[in-house]
Amino acid sequence: MRNIQMVDLQGQYARLSVEIDEAIKRVLLGADFIQGGAVRRLEDAISARYEVKHVIGCANGTDALQLAFMALDLPPGSEVITPAFSYAALTEVLLLLGLKPVFAEVDASTFLMDVAALEGLITENTKAIAPVHLYGQMVSMEPLMALAKRHNLYVVEDAAQAIGSQYCTPNEHGFAGTMGHIGTTSFFPSKNLGCYGDGGAMFTNDDALAKKLRQLANHGQTVKYQHDLVGMNSRLDTLQAAVLLAKLPHLLEFEKQRRAVAARYDVALAEISGLEAPQRTIDSSHVFHQYTLKCESEAMRNALKKHLMDCGIPSMIYYPIPLHQQTAYKQVVNLPVSEDLCGRVLSLPICSELSAEQQDYIINNIRNFIQKSQ
Ligand SMILES: Cc1ncc(COP(=O)(O)O)c(C=O)c1O
Repeated sequence: MRNIQMVDLQGQYARLSVEIDEAIKRVLLGADFIQGGAVRRLEDAISARYEVKHVIGCANGTDALQLAFMALDLPPGSEVITPAFSYAALTEVLLLLGLKPVFAEVDASTFLMDVAALEGLITENTKAIAPVHLYGQMVSMEPLMALAKRHNLYVVEDAAQAIGSQYCTPNEHGFAGTMGHIGTTSFFPSKNLGCYGDGGAMFTNDDALAKKLRQLANHGQTVKYQHDLVGMNSRLDTLQAAVLLAKLPHLLEFEKQRRAVAARYDVALAEISGLEAPQRTIDSSHVFHQYTLKCESEAMRNALKKHLMDCGIPSMIYYPIPLHQQTAYKQVVNLPVSEDLCGRVLSLPICSELSAEQQDYIINNIRNFIQKSQ
């Protein structure tokens, strides 16, 4: 049996190597490494697939968030509501830009920002809401956009983990990252659509914001050596765009395979006590960037993680510390669900290359652990 990994990038490359090698070679032969043709072709392909007017590549998902908030140009000290149970990137860029993250609670079963609780966090300084589509499914965008409209707030969606996830209710439809004023994503290698280094993109349907985002990502220039804004050097490499273009046609198939892995975990976990399978939202599809279960207690989670590691099975804690308790971003706020989840979640290997044999091995070892500990 092949080594089990959280995401099997070597296995995926073995499957797609002919297409990827050719794509890389074309860039090497053309030597258009910075802002070459593959970048615009990728942007156009993503824009068509996810029905969003503008896609702008940049250097990584964190820069995408930073550029989004630079483009909005909010007054210093403006408050931005964002979940405490999430990756650090969003909070980090807010603080770097002199904005104030206001931490929101998440739902205990879907792990997503609890939109019903947001109204109470809005003050006269609130200028934006920044939902994170965590693990691969989307925050409830319809009520969130309605709330934002009522209070005249911007919405910046962090879709780093959810590219391809689709929101669908009788009134609203849209892909992750395309429903707010600006959406961002990451092409970090282990993401559902990952390149071979760092990469990211911003999405918007607003022409003026699109122009500004593109300008900010390229040293504030629209004309070479004419700098009208203070920007960044944050461009998507042509080589990475070429890799992504080769992978993009396979993304639906990757999603399908991830969903099949998730469904097999669900069936197995339904018969194992003490572990709770991840719950689906009712209004978006799940692209399973992560398959994250909830254990009965922190002690059990840590023991299960160790047991799996002893059996050669990796697992990850996304995330062990809520953002309001991180040394760098500390705030005294009461977010019991976020704090509890950090102690109990565990993400299992999931990717398009995980074989049934590997998954059986993982499931059998989880079962053995639970039986032994009862
Ligand atoms: C939710 C979320 N936002 C932002 C990022 C940042 O993306 P990048 O690593 O490409 O900077 C990540 C990366 O893991 C993420 O998971």
